[in-house]
Amino acid sequence: MTSIATAMTLLVAGTHAALGAEQISVLHWWTSGGESKAIRVLKDDMDKQGYVWKDFAVAGGAGAAAMTALKTQVMSGNAPSAAQIKGPSIREWADQGVLVDIDKAATDWKAQLPAQVSKTMQANGHYMAAPFSVHRINWLWINKADLDKVGGKPPATWPEFFALADKFRAAGMTPVARGGQPWQDMTIWETVALSQGADFYRKAMVDLDQKTLTSPQMLQVFQIVRKIQGYFDKSSTGRDWNLATAMVINGSGGMQFMGDWAKGEFANANKQADVDYICAAAPGTSNAFTYTVDSFVFFQQNGKKEATPGQLALAKTIMSPGFQEQFSLYKGSIPVRQDVSMSKFDNCAKKSFAAEQAAIKSNSFFPSLAFGDLQPSATAGAISDVVTHFMNSNEDPQEAVRKVAAAAKVK
Ligand code: GAL
Repeated sequence: MTSIATAMTLLVAGTHAALGAEQISVLHWWTSGGESKAIRVLKDDMDKQGYVWKDFAVAGGAGAAAMTALKTQVMSGNAPSAAQIKGPSIREWADQGVLVDIDKAATDWKAQLPAQVSKTMQANGHYMAAPFSVHRINWLWINKADLDKVGGKPPATWPEFFALADKFRAAGMTPVARGGQPWQDMTIWETVALSQGADFYRKAMVDLDQKTLTSPQMLQVFQIVRKIQGYFDKSSTGRDWNLATAMVINGSGGMQFMGDWAKGEFANANKQADVDYICAAAPGTSNAFTYTVDSFVFFQQNGKKEATPGQLALAKTIMSPGFQEQFSLYKGSIPVRQDVSMSKFDNCAKKSFAAEQAAIKSNSFFPSLAFGDLQPSATAGAISDVVTHFMNSNEDPQEAVRKVAAAAKVK
């Protein structure tokens, strides 16, 4: 037996060696429970295809630390095979001349992707990034037992939201579970901005229109955010997003504003939509959809300007229907490919899909500013600094409006 096993091992090793098993190094920031379950699907798939996965996971929600690590790797000539980059940054990296295109893998992508996503994945007419899924940002997650206990219902307006928050507080819970990190605060601010209507979001966030940025509506956005802050707990500074989600999972927190990767945490804790928790569109945003689409870009390896077989296989796998389905089931998102059946998904995902299709038709399917899907990194960073300062000081909302309009001019 032993000798057969040994022979088998040698044979397998020999086959890998014969194929010259390509090593694929992958830089990403998916380290929470739900996130790592989702990325493991890709690793397993690549393993099966005979590639050797080298994982560079850099912890830190929304990827700020991962981006720092990536820059260091690229500058020292150790660029990974693939890295998690999205939105306008795809073009920014492509313009540096360090990426390879993956056109050969993208045979049916144009037909299968929402038009604006397909465009974002390209630079100079070539596909430079492979998209995973669509995360809806404008969600409010509510603990169902807490909601029943206080006799509340999911809030559709801001007055209803604050009334519910008061009830949660009176019942001894933290009304709004929040992680005090710049990107999480941006999520709240951007979602409140969306509640001012699709037109407002388009003019303020997409067009960066000065008149809209300095309008009374923008003042109201900062005023609502200030009021929401009154419902955080004292230890929220610096808290990771998944720890805030854990508060809603265990009921010590009533609700959380967060994209639907939060659902990956609920699922990972064996919690069920509509039974243990509610996913509701954030107040005033049920007809709109802010999204982030995660994607991988591919770096030149050994000075070659063409994608390696492993890189092409990786891009192809990411966009394959089977992977798209399983990844999103774990991640909390919906497939970005438009031909994947939603039959295995829960109600939250089905609601997300319906909202996505409606928003595409009504031209209110908006890239998220907070997650780097919308504006160049310099502009998005300048706006984020204003919001972070506002949320960590007693700054007057009027002053914040003035500053945010100035930040929008940063290129
Ligand atoms: C976002 C990303 C999501 C999720 C989140 C928290 O930037 O798009 O997939 O992982 O960060 O880490």
